[in-house]
Amino acid sequence: MMLPDPAPLYADHLATLKARADEALARGGLDHLVIPSGRLHYQHADDLGYPFYVNPQFKAWLPLTRVPDSWVVYTPGRRPTLIFLQPRDYWHVIPDAPSGWWVEHFDIQVIRTPDEAVALLPKPAARCAILGEAHSTLGEYAPNNPQDVVDYLAYHRAFKTPYEIALMRQAQVMAVRGHRAAEAAFRNGASEFDIHMAYCTAVGQDAAELPYGNIIGLNEHAAVLHYTELGRQAPAQSRSFLIDAGASAAGYASDITRTYAADAGSEFQAMIDAVDAAQIQMGQAVGPGVDYKQLHVDAHLRLMGILKDFGVITVSPEAAVASGVSAAFFPHGLGHSIGLQVHDVAGFAASDRGGRIERPEGHPYLRMTRVLAPGMVVTIEPGLYFIDMLLEDAKAAGHGAAIDWDRVAHFKPFGGIRIEDEVLCTETGADNLTRPAFADASSHSR
Ligand code: GLY
Ligand code: MN
Ligand code: MN
Repeated sequence: MMLPDPAPLYADHLATLKARADEALARGGLDHLVIPSGRLHYQHADDLGYPFYVNPQFKAWLPLTRVPDSWVVYTPGRRPTLIFLQPRDYWHVIPDAPSGWWVEHFDIQVIRTPDEAVALLPKPAARCAILGEAHSTLGEYAPNNPQDVVDYLAYHRAFKTPYEIALMRQAQVMAVRGHRAAEAAFRNGASEFDIHMAYCTAVGQDAAELPYGNIIGLNEHAAVLHYTELGRQAPAQSRSFLIDAGASAAGYASDITRTYAADAGSEFQAMIDAVDAAQIQMGQAVGPGVDYKQLHVDAHLRLMGILKDFGVITVSPEAAVASGVSAAFFPHGLGHSIGLQVHDVAGFAASDRGGRIERPEGHPYLRMTRVLAPGMVVTIEPGLYFIDMLLEDAKAAGHGAAIDWDRVAHFKPFGGIRIEDEVLCTETGADNLTRPAFADASSHSR
């Protein structure tokens, strides 16, 4: 698969960011955009820091994810400036001098201590929109996150530039390498921890570099939506495997889930195949003008159709959705916006002037309520799980007869199923970013 090179796309990306910043500052009545990369956080009473996660607003401008105490400064009409901390430090590796496709577009000022940035930041501080966490405060430059500015930038961040999409495609290919290594480890009977290690090795990223903690669940653990325990002991028998894991390409995330059965002839494999086929179609429904809320509600009906086909529910799919039984089996949202953050900002934004589009009633975990438009990238991640707590709640609410408990008992040892891809909304429809990466990987291994 030929991946697009982000380098020639960067100039246009930067032009888009500048235009957005111009408008955001105008709305905020401010003169300068100032974005700290962030500071290390230290453990209590210790000199050990937590892993550094860069301010997403900073990595929007530059493919730099490992540089604390640095700043991007932009004033409309001028070249942006990077204030770059390159400390005199013999304890750690000093960050390399800036290099790469973006350098020629910035004025770069190297500082040796964090405090040296103050003299270089635009004055007065009161005329700056300073975007970041309070912890980044330097002198009078405390992040003020003006609401008008934040609302505008967050809303438009949903529309990815071609540069961003190129990086997100890279993040797919990287993660798929890991997914394939993980599947092989599962089929060899590895423990969750060893599967995780195989994943990290294949991706070339460790846990702190990945966009989120790997979810790697064998058997019943697949029913825990955010299972991150990484069991050290392989079970006596690995029946099923759910892996939800991504990768980061210059700070852009992928977020991919696959589910596998050990026995290709099992009913559980057939159910995976049914969810997989439904998931592909749900992704194909992405397109301009499509209301994501509706995709989510449609997914409930489709998934209940699968449970009906497999005899897990005794009532019609429509009845299971209407009564809330469907939420016992599909208890999370269909997906979310993704980009600089796995759960990208502004999933509920009504406009670039603020406002919120509420979730449909009865769907408290949906993270995306916007109408889709070209450039948006969303995950499509339907799931079906056998979760005791939720099934008992459904029974206690008087819906016990809607569920065939023998069928639940049959599927429970497999935990659950989730299939998750990233889908780009184009001018005409959907572009699934994930599937081609898997197809390409398997064609190379034949
Ligand atoms: N990996 C977290 C999610 O799928 O949203
Ligand atoms: Mn997701
Ligand atoms: Mn996921």
